[in-house]
Amino acid sequence: MKYGYFDDAALEYVITTPKTPLPWINYLGNKEFFSLISNTCGGYTFYKDAKLLRLTRYRYNNVPYDNNGKYFFIKDGDTVWNPGWQPVKTALDSYECRHGLGYSTFTASKKDIQTRVLTFVPMEDNCEVSKVTITNNRSTDAEIQLFSYVEWCLWNADDDMKNFQRNLSTGEVEVTGGGSVIYHKTEYRERRNHYAIYGVNTAVDGFDTSRDAFLGAYNGPDSPDAVAAGACTNSIASGWSPIAAHQINVKLAAGESKTFIFTLGYIENPEDQKWEAPSVVNKKPAEAMLAKYQDEASVDKALEELKAYWKDLLSIYHVKSSNEKVDRMVNIWNQYQCMVTFNMSRSASYYESGIGRGMGFRDSCQDLLGFVHLIPDRARQRIIDIASTQFQDGSAYHQYQPLTKKGNSDIGSGFNDDPLWLIAGTSAYIRETGDLSILEEMVPFDNDMSVAKTLMGHLKCSFDFTATHKGPHGLPLIGRADWNDCLNLNCFSEHPGESFQTFGPSEGPVAESVFIAGMFVKYGEEYAQLCDLTGDHAEAERARAEVKKVYDAATTAGWDGEWFVRAYDANSNKVGSKECEEGQIYIEPQGFCVLAGIGVKEGLAEKALKSVEERLDTKYGVMILQPAYTKYHLELGEVSSYPPGYKENAGIFCHNNPWVSIAETVLGHGDRAFEIYKKTCPAYVEEISEIHCTEPYVYSQMVAGRDAKFHGQGKNSWLTGTAAWTFVNVSQYILGVYPTHNGLSINPCIPEGFGDFEITRKYRGATYNISVKQNGAQKGISKLIVNGKDIDLSGAKADVVSGGALIPYEEGVTEYKVEAIMG
Ligand code: GLC
Ligand code: GLC
Repeated sequence: MKYGYFDDAALEYVITTPKTPLPWINYLGNKEFFSLISNTCGGYTFYKDAKLLRLTRYRYNNVPYDNNGKYFFIKDGDTVWNPGWQPVKTALDSYECRHGLGYSTFTASKKDIQTRVLTFVPMEDNCEVSKVTITNNRSTDAEIQLFSYVEWCLWNADDDMKNFQRNLSTGEVEVTGGGSVIYHKTEYRERRNHYAIYGVNTAVDGFDTSRDAFLGAYNGPDSPDAVAAGACTNSIASGWSPIAAHQINVKLAAGESKTFIFTLGYIENPEDQKWEAPSVVNKKPAEAMLAKYQDEASVDKALEELKAYWKDLLSIYHVKSSNEKVDRMVNIWNQYQCMVTFNMSRSASYYESGIGRGMGFRDSCQDLLGFVHLIPDRARQRIIDIASTQFQDGSAYHQYQPLTKKGNSDIGSGFNDDPLWLIAGTSAYIRETGDLSILEEMVPFDNDMSVAKTLMGHLKCSFDFTATHKGPHGLPLIGRADWNDCLNLNCFSEHPGESFQTFGPSEGPVAESVFIAGMFVKYGEEYAQLCDLTGDHAEAERARAEVKKVYDAATTAGWDGEWFVRAYDANSNKVGSKECEEGQIYIEPQGFCVLAGIGVKEGLAEKALKSVEERLDTKYGVMILQPAYTKYHLELGEVSSYPPGYKENAGIFCHNNPWVSIAETVLGHGDRAFEIYKKTCPAYVEEISEIHCTEPYVYSQMVAGRDAKFHGQGKNSWLTGTAAWTFVNVSQYILGVYPTHNGLSINPCIPEGFGDFEITRKYRGATYNISVKQNGAQKGISKLIVNGKDIDLSGAKADVVSGGALIPYEEGVTEYKVEAIMG
């Protein structure tokens, strides 16, 4: 069952009922000012950091779902309704929400009064603009009232939920223009130099800034007293809970429309210009911001700028195939989600509260793989920021706070996959841009510039960390955990409340990870390539010798007969082996070792993937492990703490599905690679939205596995490494346009009957118009013609694993017409 449809021409998903199984959301904002907005206008707004600079309040664990937001109310006689249905939930005569790229619109009507709300964050300003158009479709005049409502958060969203003995006394506001502009200035008198505003471009008939005055102390936003009474009280908040609400009485002749523009903004003043008079905030910058969005034309222009920005970004990789679902995911939604994960990491979604983790080291490095082609300059800065939280021995803070960019010492380091992801991100950046100068940048360790090294020096530390932290089988030590945060082999937690992530020693001398072995083979080779590029062939040779050792360990101690072992625990017992009672096979080493090329020539790779298909496959995706743990295993940790079928305990953890799909392309299995791609692909599961529950336009972190009661149900949508890895999979491996250090290589791996397709790829200042003829094959290019010239393919091996056909780069040529014939 569907709750809407894709409008590909408009680059929008159209939701046709407010009663979606879960809030279906969108992200507004591209740089520093962000909002989450659901299909019922729920959500919240922040500047830079969802924890420390939160503008509007959101209640977690709320009932019903998603019941605080930035709301508009229409009072029409005795009827009160909202353009997004919530919070009053009056049945609407019509409803439509369109989530676009960085904007959302809500069109609703009740008794022939229609509202259209357009909400977005302009490219150049720290504000959210809402254009509200009300139309009277009756044959008679109408007199209605429009109310706005936002509830301020007292900036630190964490403290805001807890520290009431203080917070109920600190709230302060100012009001100008008879109530048109409301200033939220809590803590501005002391250490803050910023405030928030909520203004409307018209005179108002009333306002409120005290929540109790507007709602009534025992009411929620679903039944505000002021709206019921048809009159705000012009309250000035003092402590308690400051809000901003406007009242506008609207007269509309038959057929007439009126438009109002609301601006919710964030303003910072220099320390010496905070005040215009004692206790009166300096409003000049706020007035300038409001002045920019006074009329419809300027709002429309700002929206056009936003749309043009996205159009430009999406022209960098564009496919035209005979498969509508692939085209819409590749060209629109998958790339959009990659950009959102760049902005948010795992910090602010409906499931990540925005008060917990900041940026994850491994998460952000992997996200980069999905957005580096879109915004290479920002990717460059991100790499430097991440590397600055590394320690001198190559290990790294697991997380850092986006506002301060400092490593988070609550969680510390000890996740032994982290260092290698830095190589992955840097290599992807250089393959995309050719910008080797990044390797020369001086980058601090733990933000201490006195011990800086070049970025290349950091990569060496990453590489050496793994090379020098190995266990009894010559496999890399796992530390606190590797990519699977819940495989806590050194933790041994016996008491509830202990954090699996930080309890126990950060390092044990025995527990080893076959997954990190796979990473080391893959990214060790990418490190060696960077050494070669910078002329350090001795280091490249040393690196390849280290990689060879780990390769050999993975194919011996890491091999279980039919698949790769997952790990060795602190007692040197196998994890993910047929010897185990539960958790006999795990997905991660099968996907990652094979995509790294391990066991391909020995025939182990074929076996491993066959085992995955036999033991882990379901119609909704490939499970992370089987059989699920039914008991808590002290020696394994959190993985066995989840009920069977959820999360890391046998859930379909979508992030690693593309690894297996990529692995299948390495072996040339186009049918199987695509089948795996389809199973978790949002556009394909749209039809079963009542089962899947999360948004049909983005990936979720997890889909419940076969052992779970709600098999097929998605959870934790939006902020997941699945976005980046799936984009890498479909764009570079399935459609097969792979950026190498020497240029683009072509090596598609597609299912039978997929048909011919075309790709436009902008890359290093040139545009490549690539047409691929399937010619009955699933993999391999037999003929390549570039700008009319037949290319000799015999020497053109792009990289060890993909072995694609390289498009020769020619200095000064900015248009490449590429014809690739498979076979
Ligand atoms: C979460 C974390 C990620 C981890 C994964 C598997 O998605 O953000 O870092 O790799 O879970 O445990
Ligand atoms: C929990 C989750 C895991 C996530 C981690 C982040 O362990 O199960 O998915 O990566 O928390 O801290």
